[in-house]
Amino acid sequence: MWHGRFKKDMAEIVKNFTQSLDIDWRMAECDIQGSIAHVMMLGHTGILKPEEALKIKSGLQKVLEEVKEGKLIPSENLEDVHMNIEARLTEIEPLGAKLHTARSRNDQVATTTRLYLRERLKDLSKNLKELLKVFTSNAERHINIIIPGYTHMQQAQPISMGHYWLSWFEAFYRDMKRLNFVLEALNECPLGAGALAGSTLPIDREMTSELLGFRTPTRNSLDTVAQRDYMTDYHYFASVLMIHISRLCNDLITWNSQEFGFIVLPDEFCTGSSMMPQKKNPDVLELARGKTGQVIGNFIDLLITLKGLPMTYNRDLQEDKRGLWASLNTVENVIKIMTELLSRVEVDEKISLSGLNKGYSLATDIAEYLVMKGVPFREAHMKVGKLVGWCIENKLEFKDLTISQWLEKIPEADEGMLKILSPRESVRRRNVYGGTGFEQVEKQIYEAKSRIS
Ligand code: ARG
Repeated sequence: MWHGRFKKDMAEIVKNFTQSLDIDWRMAECDIQGSIAHVMMLGHTGILKPEEALKIKSGLQKVLEEVKEGKLIPSENLEDVHMNIEARLTEIEPLGAKLHTARSRNDQVATTTRLYLRERLKDLSKNLKELLKVFTSNAERHINIIIPGYTHMQQAQPISMGHYWLSWFEAFYRDMKRLNFVLEALNECPLGAGALAGSTLPIDREMTSELLGFRTPTRNSLDTVAQRDYMTDYHYFASVLMIHISRLCNDLITWNSQEFGFIVLPDEFCTGSSMMPQKKNPDVLELARGKTGQVIGNFIDLLITLKGLPMTYNRDLQEDKRGLWASLNTVENVIKIMTELLSRVEVDEKISLSGLNKGYSLATDIAEYLVMKGVPFREAHMKVGKLVGWCIENKLEFKDLTISQWLEKIPEADEGMLKILSPRESVRRRNVYGGTGFEQVEKQIYEAKSRIS
């Protein structure tokens, strides 16, 4: 297409090295969509005659059919999706030679990629919403189940399992907001930026922007062809989401171990061992956790590609899509499989509760009870701490102590205290906004559902 300037054809090895069909052919339909808008604008502004524009448009529609039916086989000789489409169009309709008027592949690729990413992200957004729904329905299923809450991987305080699920609702809800931010970041139309400086021809950028469903044309042509911020925004969204996924998976893998036994994973989502007949392994969770590194790696890959690139377009930017696709596929698959798996997770109520009785996870409850009786918190903390130490030495649990033993260690104690000494009471009494109290969790479920309805 640029033969004018050259005396010799491109070397075969260079053709193969520079082509990008393996990464950009998947955007063929979006590329045609962009070209149709462009040519309609050329006709509307009088840069092309209206009838020429219409002929080119119907040629593009024929190419679109061929693409959809898988009949158009792209050629490496034509480097990328854009040139293949244009070449096929020109075979069908010689006026196709006018399509690339007032356009460069630099603004074209930026437009096509945004259109394609927009489609994929809209699907992703629907799937993410399904994942959010699972957290609210799991919270409903498990609101009355009590599990130990951990800090430093040490038993801290009892919590409602419903509260635990809702904590993930919040994290993935923020991911949803970040996803919406990405959709907004890409919601500007690059067409008309040209190679870098716009065009001498009287194009109408508002028109192409509107035809393609963008909010507005991009404001600066140099910025448009040089920057890929909307992609880094996507990678940031994807990386944070995968970090959430991997931490969630890690909890479930731990709780599925024999030592914990808090949860039961669905058979259909586990695998066995080729050697050990007893095994039921949480491979799906491990793989989801394992894929997180690739998604973060793709983010870093793009950041490094961009770092120090001179303004404006450089061919390095062609490498921007490889990691993007990989990461999109991973995130899509992980969200779908996690939604299915989570909706089938069961909690073993007895086991998750039994661990708590052995520990001293009600120690804070006692200290706070004493605070209500006027004991300064630091003093209460010290007294209960000493009591825990004494219990450990004497191999006793709080529930084994008689009232006289209590009074001996903590004179401010009274009978009322014995009533609060159960994990269920402990959860129930944490009735503060955002806390784990059953009443609060119920309100939080209601509120969470209303946010995604
Ligand atoms: N395939 C190229 C890409 O994805 C299209 C732009 C080529 N532009 C150029 N000036 N060589 O970046």
